[in-house]
Amino acid sequence: MPNTPLSQDELKTLVGRAALDYVVPGQVVGVGTGSTVNKFIDALAGMRERIPGAVSSSVASTERLRALGIPVLDASAVESLAVYIDGADEIDGHGCMLKGGGAALTREKIVAALATTFVCIADASKRVQTLGAFPLPVEVIPMATRRIERQFAAMGGRASVRQKNGAPLVTDNGQHILDVQGLQITDPLAFETEVSQWPGVVTVGVFAYQKAQICLLATADGVETIRYA
Ligand code: A5P
Repeated sequence: MPNTPLSQDELKTLVGRAALDYVVPGQVVGVGTGSTVNKFIDALAGMRERIPGAVSSSVASTERLRALGIPVLDASAVESLAVYIDGADEIDGHGCMLKGGGAALTREKIVAALATTFVCIADASKRVQTLGAFPLPVEVIPMATRRIERQFAAMGGRASVRQKNGAPLVTDNGQHILDVQGLQITDPLAFETEVSQWPGVVTVGVFAYQKAQICLLATADGVETIRYA
């Protein structure tokens, strides 16, 4: 009888556990945000005695880490991290990612920048040829929103302010998120460089400077390890 295919949730559990192999005993680990990372955090609880703690990229991950007895350190308390483990909304063939579906992109980029190695954990649905089918999250300072919407419109994008309970979502940093549809990001590094310079953009959800060095991709056949140059 053929095996029942794993559900997306089971695939996330699989890569969450696989990421434990990249946690360096005795060293603080960088922890991202999202449903896949939640599986990693749950698995990390099993080795909490072997690490001094974690640097977290969101209030949500901090709460989950602490609830499981894993100390959370401030990002400014560490000079560097050996590894940062996080999910992605899309990842391309070079390890460039589109992130921010969970609205945590700014702190994710900050913690990723501290790390020598970014390990992306994802299920196979996240692998793409070109970034941009998933609406691009951009954290913005609210007074700049309309102008930034027009700048995206000039590139063919349709931006809208992310809502929560009938009002603009407010990030952990007190700002808003624009979700931009209709983009095809063929040169992620150039795109990230350009949009990052627009006044009022806090963080654009393209991770090309802080791209992944390794992706653990959960597929129907198990966890595939992809290394990028
Ligand atoms: C959080 O802001 C995002 O960057 C997440 O890393 C991304 O949305 C992936 O989340 P899931 O693991 O829930 O798909």
